[in-house]
Amino acid sequence: MALTQAGSTGDHWSSRSAFILAAVGAAVGLGNIWRFPTLAGENGGGAFVLVYIGFVILLGLPLVLSEILLGRAGGEDAIGSVRNVAVHSKRSELWKGVGALQILAGFLILSFYSVVAGWVINYVFVAGEDWFGALFSGAPFSVAFAGETQEQITGRMGDLFASPGKLILLHAIFMGATIWIVASGVSDGIEKAAKWLMPTFFVLLVIVTTYGAFTGEFAQAVKFLFTPDFSKLNPIALNEALGQALFSLSLAAGGLLTYGAYITRDVNLAPTAAMIAVADTLVAILAGLMIFPIVFAVGLDPAAGPALIFQTLPIAFSSMPAGSLIGLVFFVLIFFAALTSSISLLEGPTAWVIDRFRIRRPIAAIMVGLVAFGIGVICALGYNILSDVRPLAFWDVFAENDILDALDGVTGKIMLPLGAFLVAIFTGWMADRRLIEQQTGLDGGMFMLWRFLVAWLCPIAVGLVLLLGLVPGLLGD
Ligand code: PFF
Repeated sequence: MALTQAGSTGDHWSSRSAFILAAVGAAVGLGNIWRFPTLAGENGGGAFVLVYIGFVILLGLPLVLSEILLGRAGGEDAIGSVRNVAVHSKRSELWKGVGALQILAGFLILSFYSVVAGWVINYVFVAGEDWFGALFSGAPFSVAFAGETQEQITGRMGDLFASPGKLILLHAIFMGATIWIVASGVSDGIEKAAKWLMPTFFVLLVIVTTYGAFTGEFAQAVKFLFTPDFSKLNPIALNEALGQALFSLSLAAGGLLTYGAYITRDVNLAPTAAMIAVADTLVAILAGLMIFPIVFAVGLDPAAGPALIFQTLPIAFSSMPAGSLIGLVFFVLIFFAALTSSISLLEGPTAWVIDRFRIRRPIAAIMVGLVAFGIGVICALGYNILSDVRPLAFWDVFAENDILDALDGVTGKIMLPLGAFLVAIFTGWMADRRLIEQQTGLDGGMFMLWRFLVAWLCPIAVGLVLLLGLVPGLLGD
């Protein structure tokens, strides 16, 4: 039994495939193409990838199902849905705090996500300029960044960071696009955007991966990504892998709870959740197989950190055949992925504002988007005017982080694991078992297995990793 038929914002996906595209769009984003290869590179490759996949299967997938089913059963924004299910299950209304934590996490992620997406837009322009320049000079398959030294190419990132105006403008362009899509509505905005952007994204991804496979060091990349070296794993890497699994699947940030409320009753949730998790993980691995052959082809460092796609790859493109064209395609595909994710981040808090204050969608989207934009501006200033600021200097784990990294750290390492932990406890122990069973569509043994993972494994594993990550000395290392 669903408690209500529709989200109180009155919206619905027009079909199951529309929901899947939108949810895969939410999941596939900067997390897959920027963060996953970066973390895999920094943590030695194979072992990290293996742990990551383990987390996705054992923790991520059961939680994706939990969140979309809570959303559909509750039928409102993230806070309202959890409250509805809690009340129906004769539990305290205070459980709605789980929804509130998620909405806050999603809102904070949106604010810095848009800044990073702004960097991507910058590189779309840079690569685009190169390509069109080459096209008009009669040599379309020229290299990117022609005539520039490695230092000059790397320096572009520094130049961008030194310019608050440029960072803020690019951030504004991205946030503006996000607001516009969310303001247009669930089926006219979010669904339409996903329908166009996601298939295009997949085609572009396959093009660049195939290019890397033929022109780069594919075998070396495969070895790097799939040969585990467990000596590289430590509690911090485990915490990073879990945070990344949650972030990449869009868990605990209000997006899935909110999208879940727009799913119609006839959709079978379990296979749908599996499709989202599989598609997201495949894209992350494909992104690794797209990036590392190119990085290895020119003998660059896979552990370059966040600069991997903004500095290392442009250097690689500059010495590869058709590098300017591939560079352009690469940054456009990241931009598409980022946009379909940011709309889900904005939709969570927007749906809540619509429900809570009974205001129209466009106004709500603009209001929420503007506040997130403001926080993003502070993050952008953290690279120049406020570059000395270390907001969490008092906290060992985050002491060195600049403003954007601090926000990324607190959301990824604390709020997402905590939100996931609470969803697991709520779904596994608090929510009415009959309601849950009906919503999953799982029967017998599969339901027992899912419930075991959600009620036992998720809280224990997520709780432990959360603790280990925050108190690195706990294992005596
Ligand atoms: N899953 C997105 C990514 O991998 O880039 C980020 C994200 C989107 C996180 C939506 C949370 C969310 F609700």
